[in-house]
Amino acid sequence: MPRLTFPVAVHLFLVKDNKILLLRRFNTGYEDGNYSVIAGHIDGGEDVFTAMIREAKEEAGISIQHDNLHAIQAMHRKKADEERIDYFFKCSKWDGNITIMEPDKCDELIWVEIDNLPCNIVDYVRAAIVNYMGNNQFTIYGWQQTSANDFYLVSPSSGHENQYQEMMDEWEAHQAQYGGWFNPGALRRYSSSQKRTVTYAEWLKWIEDDRKAGQELYFFMSGEKIIGAITIRPKKNAQNIGLDGHCGFGIRPSERKKGYATKMLNMALPIMKNHGINPVVITCDKDNIGSAKVIQNCGGLLVNEITSEKTGNPVQVYHINL
Ligand SMILES: CC(C)(COP(=O)(O)OP(=O)(O)OC[C@H]1O[C@@H](n2cnc3c(N)ncnc32)[C@H](O)[C@@H]1OP(=O)(O)O)[C@@H](O)C(=O)NCCC(=O)NCCS
Repeated sequence: MPRLTFPVAVHLFLVKDNKILLLRRFNTGYEDGNYSVIAGHIDGGEDVFTAMIREAKEEAGISIQHDNLHAIQAMHRKKADEERIDYFFKCSKWDGNITIMEPDKCDELIWVEIDNLPCNIVDYVRAAIVNYMGNNQFTIYGWQQTSANDFYLVSPSSGHENQYQEMMDEWEAHQAQYGGWFNPGALRRYSSSQKRTVTYAEWLKWIEDDRKAGQELYFFMSGEKIIGAITIRPKKNAQNIGLDGHCGFGIRPSERKKGYATKMLNMALPIMKNHGINPVVITCDKDNIGSAKVIQNCGGLLVNEITSEKTGNPVQVYHINL
């Protein structure tokens, strides 16, 4: 039987005070929109320390001395039908200014409190950070099935296509029974009725373009299943907030009234806080009792009631202070 060979990657925890440097993936086709750390595969013909020093230079423009790089964790990871070995390093001393060196693959480098990580982190990287804080040096990941009790937010990626299609089919099939339309609106553009003309890959491209323009979409997951989605609009401010507000959300029909929208909005609030949004402005049609309750459950205070110019219907404006 042929011997297995595994891809090997190196990951850098650049740590300063109580903060860790995260890198937001962009345009790579893998986990785009989610945070990871400086990382890469070993090229061959280089040891893992050399590979890590090279990646730090290539991705963030910094120089690290070998003595300042500490191996802190090895992870044996299972991902679908593939196995991988990941090495994690810690460094608190480097030369040079941290700079985005590969803007075609990364659109943000950000320091975050290590014990207050954003929701949208690549899952095994989050696990590695948690292991690091627990001083665990040898870890395994992905060998157990994700449990349906694991709830998380994630940016749409190519791996979600089947789940997404299934959710949209359900959503469309239940229109008559449940009323209401797809929400957030970014889902609408890839509904079943459009799928003959729009591929999932094209839809993903739209979502990526939206993100550049200031609108982020996250799936709310329970294990492997998409339960709903939420849009965040970090570029909205007091001048241009309009009736859109900072976010819009929806839960697939079969999963409503189980507390999921409340859970999803609560999980999205730290992302908005990271964007510097405060207060979060959310609007909802006055007769959308479920939506109003979700907002109130998350600390929303009714501050205004206005009439929509588009529909003539009353719209409530809520603020959530972060
Ligand atoms: C509105 C919506 C997001 C609520 O999702 P959900 O997962 O059912 O909400 P939750 O389970 O967290 O419910 C929160 C509260 O609202 C209540 N609620 C939910 N839907 C309700 C409805 N249709 N009528 C009355 N109350 C409702 C729940 O009973 C719960 O009450 P509680 O806090 O007193 O226990 C969902 O119905 C939906 O996706 N609708 C279509 C899209 C939409 O309208 N989005 C909001 C636009 S901003």
